[in-house]
Amino acid sequence: MTIILGIESSCDETGVGIVRLGPDGAVDLLADEVASSVEQHVRFGGVVPEVASRAHLEAMVPTVRRAVEVAGLTLSDVDAIAVTCGPGLAGALLVGVSAAKAYALSLGVPLYGVNHLAGHVAADTLEHGALPSPTLALLVSGGHSQLLRVDDLAGGITEIGSTIDDAAGEAYDKVARVIGLPYPGGPPIDKAAQRGNCSAIAFPRGLTGPRDAKYDFSFSGLKTAVARWVEARERDGGEVPIDDVAASFQEAVADVLTAKAVRAATDLGIGTMVISGGVAANSRIKQLAAERCAAAGITLRVPRPRLCTDNGAMIAALGAHLVAAGVKPSALDLTTDPALPVATTSV
Ligand code: KG4
Ligand code: ZN
Repeated sequence: MTIILGIESSCDETGVGIVRLGPDGAVDLLADEVASSVEQHVRFGGVVPEVASRAHLEAMVPTVRRAVEVAGLTLSDVDAIAVTCGPGLAGALLVGVSAAKAYALSLGVPLYGVNHLAGHVAADTLEHGALPSPTLALLVSGGHSQLLRVDDLAGGITEIGSTIDDAAGEAYDKVARVIGLPYPGGPPIDKAAQRGNCSAIAFPRGLTGPRDAKYDFSFSGLKTAVARWVEARERDGGEVPIDDVAASFQEAVADVLTAKAVRAATDLGIGTMVISGGVAANSRIKQLAAERCAAAGITLRVPRPRLCTDNGAMIAALGAHLVAAGVKPSALDLTTDPALPVATTSV
């Protein structure tokens, strides 16, 4: 039995998770503690990197202590440390990696520097068990929108498509600002959209023309189209129907994401799809993905919202897969890489 502690600090959440890896390879979640600095970023309408770094510094040790306590363990029970070393905000990553090195060195346990994006995929194994090989992952968060082919979580992830401009969550956050909803924009838009008419306004579906890249995304044109539509309505002195704008925008995002993901899975002959990242908490994306996957004979897996947004449990889970696969730990001079490619699962 192996206890793995995972540390996540790539954006504005200080996450510490603890999992237990059983002799049969089963991974059980023992603790999942998150301290978010999101409130400190609200008035800026986006994450301020230096504010996030400072918040990680203050939250790191207390969050580790809480996780160990919730798991009913002591630090000396920990057998390995996993930490996000990229991609993400440089200063924020540095806090997590420095803490992880200090814990690994003082406890005399191996250290695994891991990829945040692979962590998002690994999150689903905590809820639905091992992933079939291959699995198609749709990763949608504030910083990323990617289609990944996952042959092996411990080091067999290939990018097959990504956004050429804004990430899906970024589009939500920017559109929320345009229609006067708070940051982060995903949850309030999701809520407003449930009251609105999703076919009220025909917003564009980026990169869906016959000559466009089949598996890539673009949300910048959609964001601009929403802004122009709202400006035009305000110029005419009309009231902006926030719920209808939210619903129509959300429909455009959900339509493109799910259509491209199902097409990729079908083209590549992949029978299982995982959706993860903060935007996977979206009600319409989940609903449309369920309908389209069912129609295409694809098994859909979406972890619960708590595991979709940034957390330390997903990093601990990925660490457990690396330990189980016998992957070599990282050196203690492990560095952060804000632009770590998704194909690099561990460093
Ligand atoms: O994965 P995450 O917590 O952090 C990043 O790694 O970026 O994702 C945060 C993003 C934000 O852009 C937020 O607006 C979006 O996830 N989000 C949602 C929903 N809940 C959070 N987007 C759409 N619908 C939601 N219900
Ligand atoms: Zn993330």
